[in-house]
Amino acid sequence: MQNDIQEVLISEEELQNKIKELGEILSKEYADRNPLVICVLKGAFIFMADLVKSITVPVEMDFMAVSSYGASTKSSGVVKIIKDLDASVENRDVLIVEDIIDSGLTLTHLIDLLQRRGAKSTTVVTLFDKPSGRKVDLEADYTGFVLPDAFVVGYGLDYAEKYRNLPFIGILKPEIYTS
Ligand code: PRP
Ligand code: MN
Ligand code: MG
Repeated sequence: MQNDIQEVLISEEELQNKIKELGEILSKEYADRNPLVICVLKGAFIFMADLVKSITVPVEMDFMAVSSYGASTKSSGVVKIIKDLDASVENRDVLIVEDIIDSGLTLTHLIDLLQRRGAKSTTVVTLFDKPSGRKVDLEADYTGFVLPDAFVVGYGLDYAEKYRNLPFIGILKPEIYTS
């Protein structure tokens, strides 16, 4: 698996340091607000697990899965729910946890959905941002790292469902996705 990586872009240590920083900021922001922290599956599951360990105030957690790349629904701007939340977001402060924002379509539709369901507030924390991919005007409230326009994998990010379990962010060798 590591043989498929051309270069380590962000090390495990850099990731963990940044996530601790984000956890401290969010602990202040959400002191006494008991937010519902929502993990956008699958990509965000590792970031979610590390982030909530760095949050020192009470939170509740829930999980949601939405449609992925390649589906025609993506370009049509409709995000399909694969797995919905168990909890109600009505009148809740919601913190959406994403691994990466690329076109911005997934989050735009997720935020719209949660607001229509009556969330009191919707805040986005993303570990990575790839501004070069943006198709809609959307910015996260909190961002870990801005990424270049490269084929990156690891720490939750997949190529064809592989490489999510790498503890760092790496650039995939071109021969892997061009062959
Ligand atoms: C990826 C990533 C984000 C989304 C970002 O998920 O995890 O959720 O795409 O892209 P966008 O800003 O262009 O919408 P994907 O749909 O690949 O599913 P996965 O999380 O299961 O890998
Ligand atoms: Mn995802
Ligand atoms: Mg994916």
